[in-house]
Formats: sequence, C-alpha cells, structure tokens
Amino acid sequence: MNKLNNHLENQLRTLKLKGIVSCYQELSERAARSNLSYEEYLTLLLEEEIKRKDEGTVKTKINKARFPFLKTLEEFDFSFQPALNQKEVSRLSSLEFIENKGNLLFLGPSGVGKTHLAVALGIKACVAKYRVVFISAQKLLEELMLSLKEGSLTEKLLSYGRLNLLIIDELGYMPVSKEQANLLFQLISLRYERGSIILTSNYNFDEWGVIFSDQVVAAAIIDRLVHHARIFYINGASYRLKDKLKKTRVNGKDSG
Ligand SMILES: Nc1ncnc2c1ncn2[C@@H]1O[C@H](COP(=O)(O)OP(=O)(O)OP(=O)(O)O)[C@@H](O)[C@H]1O
Ligand SMILES: [Mg+2]
Repeated sequence: MNKLNNHLENQLRTLKLKGIVSCYQELSERAARSNLSYEEYLTLLLEEEIKRKDEGTVKTKINKARFPFLKTLEEFDFSFQPALNQKEVSRLSSLEFIENKGNLLFLGPSGVGKTHLAVALGIKACVAKYRVVFISAQKLLEELMLSLKEGSLTEKLLSYGRLNLLIIDELGYMPVSKEQANLLFQLISLRYERGSIILTSNYNFDEWGVIFSDQVVAAAIIDRLVHHARIFYINGASYRLKDKLKKTRVNGKDSG
C-alpha cells in the first residue's frame, strides 16, 4: 500500500467510514475504467457507506431484540399448517400492523410455529428499523415484579412503552398471580393504541381463566389486546414431532 492510500485510509477510519475503506480501491478502478465523473464516483462510495451503516443498524436492532433464535417467514413451511392462511400471514410482512399500533395473537398448541412466526415478523420489523423486544411472558412478569420491588416500575414500564413492537411469548405456561396480572395490565394499557404487541399462547381466551387467578383483570387485558388485533388460531400438528412421527411409522411398518 502506498503512502497516499495509507493516509486516505487513516482519514476514512477517523471519520468512521468503514464501508468506504473496504470498497474505495475497487470502485476507483471501476470509475477509471468506466470514465465515471467525480460525482458518480462519490455517489457510489457513499452508497456503500450507507449500505454498511444500515446493515450495522439492523444487526444492532436484532441483537437488542433478544430473539431466542433467528428464523424467517420464508423458512416457514405453510403446507405443514394448511389451516393457516399463508396470504394473510405473508401480508403481515408489510408491517402495516405496526404502523397502525395493532396487535397480533398467535394461539395454538405446542410446536405449531407460534414463536417462529413471532420471531420472523420481529426480524422484519428490525430490518425496517423498528425498536423491537422479544421476551417470554414468564421473564417479563419476573422483571416487572422485580422493578416493583426495587421502586423502578415506572421506568421499566416506560422502557417497554417506547418500543414499536413488544413480543410476549408463551403466555400461559405458568400461572399468573393477582399481582403479576395487575402489572401485565398496566403494561398492556400503556401500549394500548400506542405500540404493537405480538403475543403467543397455548390457551384460547375462553381458557385464560386457568392462567389468571383474577378474572376481572384477565378480561380487561383481553379487551385491550383484542381490540385492534388479528388473531391466528393455529391448530395443526406439532412441527417438532413431524419427523419423529414419520420415523415411528416407518419403524412400525406403518408408512404404506
Ligand atoms: N410450519 C413450519 N415450518 C417450518 N418450521 C416450523 C414450522 N412450525 C414450526 N417450525 C419449527 O419447529 C420448532 C417449533 O416451533 P415454535 O417454537 O414456533 O413452536 P410454538 O408454537 O412456539 O410451540 P410452543 O408452544 O411449544 O412454544 C421451531 O424450530 C420452528 O422453527
Ligand atoms: Mg413457542
């Protein structure tokens, strides 16, 4: 590397233009070959820088969202859940529901892809630069209880209030005490018509009595969640058991 390149790269690094550092040599050669104007060359350089910064922002958003795994809508096999309307789910990719501060509820038994869909849409929201957090209902309730104890509930609620999309996963695996239900109600009320929630649960609303010890609060939570919500009931077979069941059938000579 010559002295000029060295100096130039130091300058670019000082200005934190890492995208340009990695592409300027190749682009300079291309510009010379194609007789690009200085303005055209500069535009190409800046496009690369913007692309790199955008990718960095999306990566940071995805890290901050704390997804349990990264899976996309394209990886979802809709033929395995024929009752689920593929077009309707795919349309959610437009993220209009976030613009409208609406909610999505994915309800159904274990292994049908509720979390997968929630994560996939969460990733799309990150790519669109929305603020997203994924958290299990259990962890969320623990966090809220802890901040109540430590006197920082308001800050905690506000931090959740600032998100564009809050994904609450697995409501119903553990019972919700009266005090926890109250905190959840405060959170849902705060976000009502202000920010989106994607909620997954193994229970249908008429079964929420089993989860919540306080029926009045449960009804108030459901009311706010459902008001501007799209509800998807996924009632097919568990994807986790898909291959296991096939193997069992083959072993048991039941595969036809
Ligand atoms: N239709 C599908 N196509 C591809 N992969 C799927 C599909 N459904 C589920 N999976 C995969 O199966 C596994 C279980 O799915 P997921 O975690 O979304 O289930 P769930 O409905 O959230 O279940 P649980 O209630 O037990 O949490 C994941 O690895 C997920 O990616
Ligand atoms: Mg799940």
